[in-house]
Amino acid sequence: MINTWSYKEEYKLIRKKILKTIDKTLSSGNIFFGKEIQQFERNFSKYNNFKYGVAVGSGTDALHISLLALGIGHGDEVITVSNTAIATISAIVSTGATPRFIDVDNNYLIDFKKIPKKISKKTKAIIPVHLYGQSCQIDEICKIAKKFNLKVVEDCAQAQGAKFKNKYIGTFGDMACFSFYPTKILGAYGDGGFVGTNNKSLYEKIRQIRFYGIDQINKKNKFFKKYYSNTHGVNSRIDEIQCSILNLKLKNVNKYIKQRRKLAEVYREHLKNTGLILPKEKSGNRHVYHLFVVYHNKRDLILQKLKKKNINLSIQYPYPVHKMTAYKKFNNRKMSLPQTDKFSKGIFSLPMYPTLKEETVKKFIKILKKVIKSI
Ligand SMILES: Cc1ncc(COP(=O)(O)O)c(C=O)c1O
Repeated sequence: MINTWSYKEEYKLIRKKILKTIDKTLSSGNIFFGKEIQQFERNFSKYNNFKYGVAVGSGTDALHISLLALGIGHGDEVITVSNTAIATISAIVSTGATPRFIDVDNNYLIDFKKIPKKISKKTKAIIPVHLYGQSCQIDEICKIAKKFNLKVVEDCAQAQGAKFKNKYIGTFGDMACFSFYPTKILGAYGDGGFVGTNNKSLYEKIRQIRFYGIDQINKKNKFFKKYYSNTHGVNSRIDEIQCSILNLKLKNVNKYIKQRRKLAEVYREHLKNTGLILPKEKSGNRHVYHLFVVYHNKRDLILQKLKKKNINLSIQYPYPVHKMTAYKKFNNRKMSLPQTDKFSKGIFSLPMYPTLKEETVKKFIKILKKVIKSI
């Protein structure tokens, strides 16, 4: 049995530390908004070079709250891609705004050259998605945003620790959103998310929106009103247990990334000349391989045959979001996303997680090669 993802081996390695930190956290008397969240907001901001950081309930919330903090809502448009997790689009639509879709380039990332044509008077922001673990052409995207006076909210959910020209992603736009869903580069044992920014006023807004619009920053101020909302907000608390786990796992995150990159090299070495199109690491980029996504025009046949051998691979993503029942109303007839459509029919993700053993990868590669030869 080869798993495409599992946290069990990792848990075995750090079980004692995890149980200790959960016990310490629960014994502290704080379930929410205690020391662990404060420490995590500091630690994660430091890792990514943000001046300010707010931990929230999920990556979807991080995006939604960021857009709300920018005042985006009904009548506004936000530019992004359709080859992404549903979450990116769901966050836009939850504000009342309309998503506008751009096709992707050969690296499955937003094709920045196509952005200017999609900008209208209603456009307020761009959400570039650093998909699969690799940075978009973020310098060019920020140039376009500056020219047209748009905000940039980087969707870093799949690419924590990735770099563009030696600089961490998330530090280019106005805000950066992360997910700590367990499969992610830094995964909690539950849900979690984060917004990083260097803008103090956005930071203050995000903190309030996270928790019903209550001004938690001035808690010590004598004018602080406990059950009083200053601005319409949501409930997107992240609990102390998840923050304590994240504090612990953050110490290992560079090791995890190194291991993912090592496994990617094994795939590259053994899968060249097999007919599979392998992911490219663009020069100047550090890819963190949240997913190792390959392309083959007989994908479905390959997956069927692997399934018979008890290997169930996943596809990220089999359906472009603009074609889904929930979102096709935003699918303007004139819209054509040929690359997105083509890729959705041929991409699939190979097993990838930091505690995956090299010998398991090699065993899997042997099976995969045999299957490809047989079709
Ligand atoms: C690109 C992208 N954006 C946003 C999200 C949302 O994160 P979460 O699942 O924590 O809400 C995800 C996670 O699935 C993602 O992959």
